[in-house]
Amino acid sequence: MPVDASARARHGRGMTTILVTGSSRGIGAAIATALGELPGVRVLGHGTRSGIAEDLSQPDAPARLWAAALQQAGGAIDILVNNAGIFEASPLDADDWSESWARTMQVNLTASAELCRLAVLHWQERGVGGRIVNIASRAAYRGDSPSHWHYAASKGGMVAMTKTIARGYAAQGILAFAVCPGFTMTGMADDYLASRGGDKLLADIPLGRVASPEEVAAAVRFLCTDAPPSMTGAVLDINGASYVR
Ligand SMILES: NC(=O)c1ccc[n+]([C@@H]2O[C@H](COP(=O)([O-])OP(=O)(O)OC[C@H]3O[C@@H](n4cnc5c(N)ncnc54)[C@H](OP(=O)(O)O)[C@@H]3O)[C@@H](O)[C@H]2O)c1
Repeated sequence: MPVDASARARHGRGMTTILVTGSSRGIGAAIATALGELPGVRVLGHGTRSGIAEDLSQPDAPARLWAAALQQAGGAIDILVNNAGIFEASPLDADDWSESWARTMQVNLTASAELCRLAVLHWQERGVGGRIVNIASRAAYRGDSPSHWHYAASKGGMVAMTKTIARGYAAQGILAFAVCPGFTMTGMADDYLASRGGDKLLADIPLGRVASPEEVAAAVRFLCTDAPPSMTGAVLDINGASYVR
């Protein structure tokens, strides 16, 4: 039977190693903190200049990141959290629209796909199960602003990829989940609100406020640990009911 990494974490049999991309700040930092508080868990962090430093806009970066993480982990990674992502405006009339499209796809989707691929191969080689948690977005379902076609498309792709992995490898104990945050307050509140359209965005959220990184991290922690295997393929919304599917 495949070994369930989360079960090892819960029952204290050895360490569970979790790679979290984009853990230098924002939601990723909250995820790393929440997971790092669990007994028997070792978190491997990543950023462009911190943790295992790799710029995921570079096509060969995911393979380097995975190899370095495996080395730090002593040869076994149990859970992968793909959180690193960019949200860069790209108006339709921008000269570099195509380059922006490619960059967002590379960082948000392709790099995550490469890491998922390496994780699945790693678990298959070891003959064990594992868990993947992909941080997508409400935009995957709702769409985004006219300057963010690429962002919404990358996150829609992430949800579809997650479901595909869940269906393909569940029998091997390899589980995959996605989380779709809505607006989530990272960094300074004023800057954050301004970058997302100001006070008007709050009027669209029945809860009356944006999510906190800690709320997203709580969902990720659940998916990494206690979420039952039958949940594989599930997508959790964290958006204050601003988009109810
Ligand atoms: N905040 C929101 O409202 C919201 C809503 C829905 C979904 N999300 C998703 O949640 C995830 C985290 O978002 P966030 O708001 O916490 O973002 P953030 O505060 O901007 O942090 C982004 C993280 O990704 C890393 N990163 C960015 N570009 C990278 C690159 N080229 N290569 C490697 N790492 C890179 C950053 O590393 P450095 O520190 O080194 O730059 C940082 O750790 C993203 O996938 C985002 O799409 C966020």
